Amino acid sequence: MRQFLLVITIVLLRWAFSVRCSNDYSKNDFPEGFVFGSAFSAFQWEGAVDEDGRSPSIWDTYLHSENGHGRIEDGDCDGYHKYKEDVRLMYEMGLDAFRLSISWPRLIPSGRGLVNPKGLRFYKNLLDELTRYGIEPHVTLFHNDLPQALEDEYGGWIDRKIIDDFTAFAEVCFREFGNEVKHWSTINEPNMLAWGGYDLGVIPPMHCSPPFGTGNCSRGNSSTEPYIVLHNMLLAHASTARLYKQKYKYKQNGSVGITCYAYWMVPFTSSQEDKIATQRAKDFFLGWVLHPLVFGDYPDIMRKIVGKRLPRFSKDESDLVKDSSDFFGVIHYTTMYIKHLSSSYQGDFNSDMNAALIPFGNSTMVAFDVLPWGLEGVLEYIKQNYGNPPVYILENGRPTSHNSSINDIGRVEFLHAYIGSVLKSVRNGSDTRGYFQWSFMDLFEFINFKYTFGLYYVNFSDPERKRSPKTSAFWYSAFLKGTTKVPKSVSSSLEFSSQ
Ligand SMILES: *[C@@H]1O[C@H](CO)[C@@H](O)[C@H](O)[C@H]1NC(C)=O
Ligand SMILES: *[C@@H]1O[C@H](CO)[C@@H](O)[C@H](O)[C@H]1NC(C)=O
Ligand SMILES: *[C@@H]1O[C@H](CO)[C@@H](O)[C@H](O)[C@H]1NC(C)=O
Ligand SMILES: *[C@@H]1O[C@H](CO)[C@@H](O)[C@H](O)[C@H]1NC(C)=O
Ligand SMILES: *[C@@H]1O[C@H](CO)[C@@H](O)[C@H](O)[C@H]1NC(C)=O
Ligand SMILES: *[C@@H]1O[C@H](CO)[C@@H](O)[C@H](O)[C@H]1NC(C)=O
Ligand SMILES: *[C@@H]1O[C@H](CO)[C@@H](O)[C@H](O)[C@H]1NC(C)=O
Repeated sequence: MRQFLLVITIVLLRWAFSVRCSNDYSKNDFPEGFVFGSAFSAFQWEGAVDEDGRSPSIWDTYLHSENGHGRIEDGDCDGYHKYKEDVRLMYEMGLDAFRLSISWPRLIPSGRGLVNPKGLRFYKNLLDELTRYGIEPHVTLFHNDLPQALEDEYGGWIDRKIIDDFTAFAEVCFREFGNEVKHWSTINEPNMLAWGGYDLGVIPPMHCSPPFGTGNCSRGNSSTEPYIVLHNMLLAHASTARLYKQKYKYKQNGSVGITCYAYWMVPFTSSQEDKIATQRAKDFFLGWVLHPLVFGDYPDIMRKIVGKRLPRFSKDESDLVKDSSDFFGVIHYTTMYIKHLSSSYQGDFNSDMNAALIPFGNSTMVAFDVLPWGLEGVLEYIKQNYGNPPVYILENGRPTSHNSSINDIGRVEFLHAYIGSVLKSVRNGSDTRGYFQWSFMDLFEFINFKYTFGLYYVNFSDPERKRSPKTSAFWYSAFLKGTTKVPKSVSSSLEFSSQ
């Protein structure tokens, strides 16, 4: 049945794309060693939130609070118990690599100190399983799930104490998993976390201060905290990267990078103001993370506008941060128009940037639109402005409402277009080395969990959390196996057998 569906699907897709895609391509067009994968993160996939010694993260706390948008149990995939089945699906799909994260509160429930043996065992088993099937793990150390214990004790990322605790957590991972893991990303989307969690107050720990953000936060300071938090993340990243170089690299030979949320940005109008605002927004969003890592300090425009509120790197810190990322993980979904803003309030990240982000496409849901040139723009911008570093695209994908059909032809259209744009960038000299589709299966989504990105549908009402392949799963698999082109004889015979 599956095989049959697969072929039918390919026929349909071939039909759908034969006209629109003048520049057809296959996996073989990518350089040798380029990896294709898919992804999920611990909190979004594992479930089992209070099993085997895991402690709560700030996301558990938020979801159980009055403002939380649902019970976590409603959206988990039970990956903790179903990891063998899932790795087998990855293998059957033909993935070269897989991006996952380690849950800090599962591995070290108090945030620091004792390692939870059952947590350790789970990640060893998972990584063994991936290795057994020849799937290369790309591991993110921190993907939003900060141990609540550290938030309670000193405010998490606000305090420089986090640098040592994060480095110690990373060391446990290097020591225990480093024989199998050669690609480490330290922190997921530091820029989005700092902006969303500490200026706007829309994601945990929901910090903001009036008149900024939602203005409905019980704690925070939108003028200062986003900058402090991002600064501490860069220092924690750099401290971790140094540790790896000093103690583990000579025997494990892996690499340590960081990720960055990367909208592509284009001016809303052709006015000079909007053009300048667009460059400013690129500096505030991408430059905030990438500039210190490449040049040792924040962009000049940020220093000028943010002034004293922007933390300074000491000479040693600047040296530590500069060149501390072996690669950049790009997280890209969509393109935004940028409009110059004359903000009536001054003094938070948003008003410092002084630019409005306006969704480019027609859809109400950001990231529905297919704008593949946006990813090309990001990759070209990084190439030209940051010395063409190695890049992995660690997230890219299209949401659909979770309850919609498993015939997700729109997702196929998106993936086909965006992977094509990666190929164009690589051909034009970008040192992009891998592409990870988000997400392997429907997950609990942090921002709006009615919309999911999975290649596999997951029935969250089913105690078994049954996984069912969508059309996109068949397409991606066919692409990975180099068989997207179906001979005519096969397609005509299938049209017959579908009667
Ligand atoms: C603000 O928070 C309170 C309780 O913490 C909640 O009742 C209210 O709906 C929130 N308002 C907004 C606009 O989110
Ligand atoms: C935020 O911090 C700055 C600098 O410490 C201070 O001047 C300002 O009053 C604080 N704002 C709030 C809302 O606490
Ligand atoms: C280390 O890794 C690099 C690239 O990842 C590879 O070229 C090199 O051969 C490896 N060295 C050893 C000693 O395994
Ligand atoms: C928006 O809709 C118009 C009219 O339907 C269409 O021509 C255009 O291509 C759409 N733009 C995007 C970015 O989808
Ligand atoms: C599916 O979900 C969307 C978004 O939440 C909602 O608008 C729509 O009514 C739902 N459709 C069905 C059939 O439940
Ligand atoms: C290709 O790369 C060259 C050299 O970096 C650059 O000038 C050009 O704009 C790039 N083309 C595209 C389409 O990005
Ligand atoms: C999901 O699972 C529930 C419970 O087993 C079942 O009643 C329902 O039909 C399933 N939904 C789909 C779309 O398969």
